[in-house]
Amino acid sequence: MAKKLFIVAMSLSVLGYLGYQLVGAARNVGVNQGYEPDQPIAYSHKIHAGDNQIPCLYCHTGADKGRHAGIPSANICMNCHVKIKTESPEIKKIKEALEQNKPIEWVKVHRLPDFAYFNHSQHVNSGVICQDCHGPIQTMTRVRQENPLTMGWCINCHRAKGIATPPEHPDVSRDLSKDTKPIGGLDCAKCHY
Ligand code: HEC
Ligand code: HEC
Ligand code: HEC
Ligand code: HEC
Ligand code: HEC
Repeated sequence: MAKKLFIVAMSLSVLGYLGYQLVGAARNVGVNQGYEPDQPIAYSHKIHAGDNQIPCLYCHTGADKGRHAGIPSANICMNCHVKIKTESPEIKKIKEALEQNKPIEWVKVHRLPDFAYFNHSQHVNSGVICQDCHGPIQTMTRVRQENPLTMGWCINCHRAKGIATPPEHPDVSRDLSKDTKPIGGLDCAKCHY
């Protein structure tokens, strides 16, 4: 009997530990504040978006249209680099990628876990600017994750901006105008489904 109990207790603690590890693994996906990986080509936002003031949307064409902002293909780079700095070894890497028909393997910096839904266009089209979430990208020689990208971070901004989400199953007999939850977007299903 004592042995059985011991085994049950052990299994529970092992399961508990595995659960902890899983949650830990999930946490690490999005929560990489300060992450600043090396990139295959020394592309600089400071030179392009800063010094030369190329608009963010010129390259990240999806940001006002849907979920993903998108990373520009090598063709976009060549719009300018057929003429600019053609002898630079870094620019030659872009040409090579095009000639070999291979995409440039940029290292992803920001990444939310799959169970969280984020859509750029919902934000960009309502006046939240890129820098509110990504920091001063136009000063960065190499992209760095400026903000934590945690659930608390999302909700803090929603609270600050006073976003209230109507109830999911409104009871029509009530006065709906008084029935918005002052939750700053704390409606689980908006971000998890
Ligand atoms: C000339 C094209 C170009 C312009 C203009 C540009 N970007 Fe980028 N951006 C890139 C490329 C290429 C990458 C991938 C390499 C890297 O991370 O540096 C990238 C990466 C990023 C990333 C990181 C993506 C990830 O992996 O998580 C963010 C955020 C970003 N850009 C935001 C911006 C913002 C904000 C602006 C305007 C201030 C801007 N970009 C202007 C080309 C551009
Ligand atoms: C409200 C916050 C917020 C704003 C505003 C925002 N982003 Fe993002 N961005 C994020 C988050 C969160 C991710 C990670 C998304 C994921 O992993 O699904 C991300 C990822 C990215 C990525 C890499 C993945 C992708 O979606 O292609 C790029 C590039 C990017 N953002 C560029 C931009 C640009 C350019 C702007 C402005 C036009 C912008 N972002 C505005 C929060 C924001
Ligand atoms: C709208 C024009 C334009 C586009 C598009 C563009 N660039 Fe540039 N790029 C420039 C300018 C201007 C410079 C600065 C040239 C100088 O210093 O004289 C530059 C400089 C560079 C440099 C530095 C080269 C060196 O050795 O000094 C790299 C690397 C680079 N770009 C990569 C890229 C990549 C990768 C893309 C595509 C994601 C891209 N560029 C898209 C205009 C552009
Ligand atoms: C505004 C968007 C948003 C809303 C609303 C939201 N979440 Fe999240 N949630 C996230 C993001 C982004 C993550 C991933 C980053 C992280 O783990 O903090 C996350 C992570 C989680 C996790 C992973 C465990 C953890 O602590 O990291 C759980 C569980 C969770 N959310 C439950 C909920 C529940 C329950 C609600 C409703 C009361 C809710 N979320 C509402 C955005 C949201
Ligand atoms: C800097 C401020 C800011 C941050 C950070 C932010 N949001 Fe938002 N979010 C907004 C604003 C403003 C709106 C309202 C857009 C509108 O008026 O339609 C919004 C709307 C939304 C909506 C649509 C809500 C609805 O009722 O239709 C979702 C979903 C959402 N955000 C998810 C996220 C997630 C997930 C994150 C974190 C990864 C996040 N947001 C981070 C400002 C922010």
